[in-house]
Amino acid sequence: MIILGIETSCDETAASVIKTSGGKIKILSNIISSQIPIHRRYGGIIPEIAARAHIENILPVIQKSLEILKNQKIDLIAVTQGPGLVTSLLVGIETAKTFSYAKKIPLMGINHLKGHIAANWLSPISAISKSEFLISKQIQIKFPALCLIVSGGHTELILMSGQTKYKKIGQTRDDAAGECFDKIAKLLNIGYPGGPAIAAEAAKLKTTNHKLQVSLPRPMFNSPDSDFSFSGLKTAVFYLVQKNKNILTNSKTKNEFIQAVCAEAQQSIIDVLIKKTIQAAEKFKVKSIILCGGVASNNELRKQFEEKIKNLTTKINFYVPERKLCTDNAVMIAMAAYFQYKNMGTKQIKKLQKNFQKIKVNPNLEI
Ligand code: KG4
Ligand code: ZN
Repeated sequence: MIILGIETSCDETAASVIKTSGGKIKILSNIISSQIPIHRRYGGIIPEIAARAHIENILPVIQKSLEILKNQKIDLIAVTQGPGLVTSLLVGIETAKTFSYAKKIPLMGINHLKGHIAANWLSPISAISKSEFLISKQIQIKFPALCLIVSGGHTELILMSGQTKYKKIGQTRDDAAGECFDKIAKLLNIGYPGGPAIAAEAAKLKTTNHKLQVSLPRPMFNSPDSDFSFSGLKTAVFYLVQKNKNILTNSKTKNEFIQAVCAEAQQSIIDVLIKKTIQAAEKFKVKSIILCGGVASNNELRKQFEEKIKNLTTKINFYVPERKLCTDNAVMIAMAAYFQYKNMGTKQIKKLQKNFQKIKVNPNLEI
C-alpha cells in the first residue's frame, strides 16, 4: 500500500510517501520545507505569515515527495486535520481534498498528535542513501503503554491499550514544554526555535568553573496527578533576567549567565517530565514508555529518560523516535493513517472515497 502524507499544522510544510508491505514500512520520501528562517526574526510563529508560506511551498513539496513514485499509484492520502493553526491546517487540507477529488484517491484526516505517537513504530531507522531513503522494520511495543507527547503546543500523557487506543490522563494546565523552551529563549534573546537554542547553550556550560548559581522551580513536581504547568518557570526566568540586568550588559559574565540559566531551565523541564511520567507509568503498571513530539529530540531528555527507566525495579521498555522524526514531518502522518486503515472495515474504507467533501479543519482536535 502506498500512502501520501501531508502535514501543515504549524510552520513546516511537509509531504512524505511511505510503502507498506508484509508488516514492513519503507519511507520513500520525507520532504520538509521549514519556515524557521522566516519566523526567527519575530522570535515565534506569526500565523498569517505561516499560512502564506505554506501556500507557496505546498505544491513543490508534494511534487518533490512524489518524484520517487514514477508510475506507481497512490492508495491513500493522509492529511493533518488538527490540532494546529487553523490557517496553516487549511492549506494542507484543501490541497489534499483537491488532490483526492481530482485523482479519485481515498482521503483520511489525521490527528497530528496521533502522528507524533506513530513515529515510534519507525525506530530504529537507518539511512540507506544520501537522498533520505529510509527503511524501517515495524517494532513491537508492549501494551499498556504510556506516551508522553512534548511539542510546541502540547504536553500530554496518553495511556495506550493498543496501537490506536488512546486515553488522555494528564496535560499541561498552561504552557506546553516546547512553548516554555521557546519563550525562555526569547527572554534570553538566544534565537528561535528555543529548544535547540537552549540545549546548545546548556551544553556549553562547564559545571566545574561556573560561579553563577541559578536555581529555578520545578512546577507541579510533587503533585500526585498527571498534569503539568510550565508558565511559572517562564515567569521565574523573566524575574531572574530583570534582577540580573547588570550581568547581561557585561559581555564576560553574560555568556556564563545565559548558559547557567539554560542548563537549569532545561533541567527543570526534564526533571518534571521524567518524574510525572514515571509516576503515572507506575500507577498504571505500563510495560512501555513512549516519548514523542519536537521536545523529544532533546538529547539530555532522551539520555536522562533512558537512564531513569533502566534503573527502575520494574522492567519498562523505553521508546523514542529518531531525532528527525520527533519534530513535525509527514512520515508520521502517513504512519498514523496506515495504523488506522489497518483497523477499518470495508464499509469504513469505502467512505474514505467521499472524504474530500467532508473533512474539516479542527484546530482544537483532541486525542
Ligand atoms: O512537534 P513540533 O515540531 O511542533 C509542534 O507540534 O509544536 O515541536 C516544536 C517544539 C518547539 O517548541 C521547539 O522549541 C521544540 O519542539 N524543540 C526542542 C528541541 N528541538 C525542538 N525542545 C528542546 N530541545 C530540542 N532539541
Ligand atoms: Zn508537532
